[in-house]
Amino acid sequence: MNPDFPVGRYHEDLSAFAKRRASLLAQLEVTGGGALLLPTAPERIRNGGTTYPYRFDSDFYYLTGYIEPDAWLLLRTHESPRSVLFCRDRDPEKELWEGRRLGVAAAPQALGLEAAFPLAELDAKLPELVAGAPALWLPLAENEEIDARLRRLLPALRTKARLGPPAPATLHDARALIARMRRIKDAFELELMQRSATIAAHAHRRAMRVCRPGVHEYTLEAEIIAEFRRHGAQGPSYPTIVAGGANACILHYTDNRSRLKAGELVLIDAGCEYDGYASDITRTFPVDGRFRPPQRLLYDLVLAAQEAAIAAIRPGATFDDPHQAAVRVLVQGLLDLGFLSGSLDEALERQTYKRFYMHRTGHWLGLDVHDAGPTHENGLPVTLVPGMVLTVEPGLYVPEADDVPRDFWNLGIRIEDDALVTERGCRLLTRDVPVAAEAIEALMQHESD
Ligand code: GLY
Ligand code: MN
Ligand code: MN
Repeated sequence: MNPDFPVGRYHEDLSAFAKRRASLLAQLEVTGGGALLLPTAPERIRNGGTTYPYRFDSDFYYLTGYIEPDAWLLLRTHESPRSVLFCRDRDPEKELWEGRRLGVAAAPQALGLEAAFPLAELDAKLPELVAGAPALWLPLAENEEIDARLRRLLPALRTKARLGPPAPATLHDARALIARMRRIKDAFELELMQRSATIAAHAHRRAMRVCRPGVHEYTLEAEIIAEFRRHGAQGPSYPTIVAGGANACILHYTDNRSRLKAGELVLIDAGCEYDGYASDITRTFPVDGRFRPPQRLLYDLVLAAQEAAIAAIRPGATFDDPHQAAVRVLVQGLLDLGFLSGSLDEALERQTYKRFYMHRTGHWLGLDVHDAGPTHENGLPVTLVPGMVLTVEPGLYVPEADDVPRDFWNLGIRIEDDALVTERGCRLLTRDVPVAAEAIEALMQHESD
């Protein structure tokens, strides 16, 4: 490896990125070819000279592996160079303050791209590089910077067209094309996703071990984030939820400031980002290590719903099947407990269960926690194929209501694992943390585990 490269920041094996670009270019060619333009995410100011921690654009990273801000990618079907990066250059003064940069000269070799130019040359170089492309793919109606580039590029191409090939006649949304690719993970991604999942699972184990009455929600959050960082994850892949007692009934609770009490449950929804890839795990367990009977009843019901959803994940099933399987189990359980009335079919039809279960059972997972790619197309749920990764996260959230026994009020329970669709069914990436009630109780009794 070239000693000038920012050490450890770029992958040595570039084949996955090259394959993705080749596959994308092949898809552009099918429709007659053209050029694809994609910027990475901007840096965002937090206040007074500080920025939010930088996170690259997921599509951009997926195609380049490049992790620095201020960059555009150009892919072209019609001639070489087919892959061009516009990026910031080396700058000793800036690097002294802000950190190392890959730079223009090193970028082609480090990223496996055919050419690189300084970002400052983007407007000047684009007309010559895009001339002759019959169509353009770029993020449409996304932000003013992209729109402004296009407003400068198209007139330049039209001027050029007087003496040469016509300007592109069609615009397409680049995001939709890339999103559909990202729905199916390659082997390189699955390795990173398994690592992300394993780190997150161990963070949940740690939270279970250190939990005891009197600690604050933020203490468990701190343990979780420490475990993420200790194993090389960049940090949480979404704001960590540590919700004791009734806080668990607030679906996106992130205050994490309450003190945990004996006799209550705590719901933790926490996942990390490892080399860009998210994990997403929820466990709900007793603060003092022992489920009370009403808690255990509902916990086992949610677990049964999750098992039914997991059993419904296989190639040929649809994205909706796990949700429907989970809802059936939850509704039957709520009818048996007397929380709902009428028949199973009536409750499903009238969706009366939504008082207790108001969210979906899963979403795609990948570079983004709610990953790219439609779940429904042409009004129909997407058919599952091997390589897709989705979460399985049924829950129950019991309100204070006269028609519900008081023992169950304010219980919030969710169980969430990450499932990879395989040839025969699915494989859970996140089971290094226990899920059965007895196994959780056993782990919590053995502090040294
Ligand atoms: N933690 C976000 C989610 O479960 O969807
Ligand atoms: Mn989730
Ligand atoms: Mn989650």
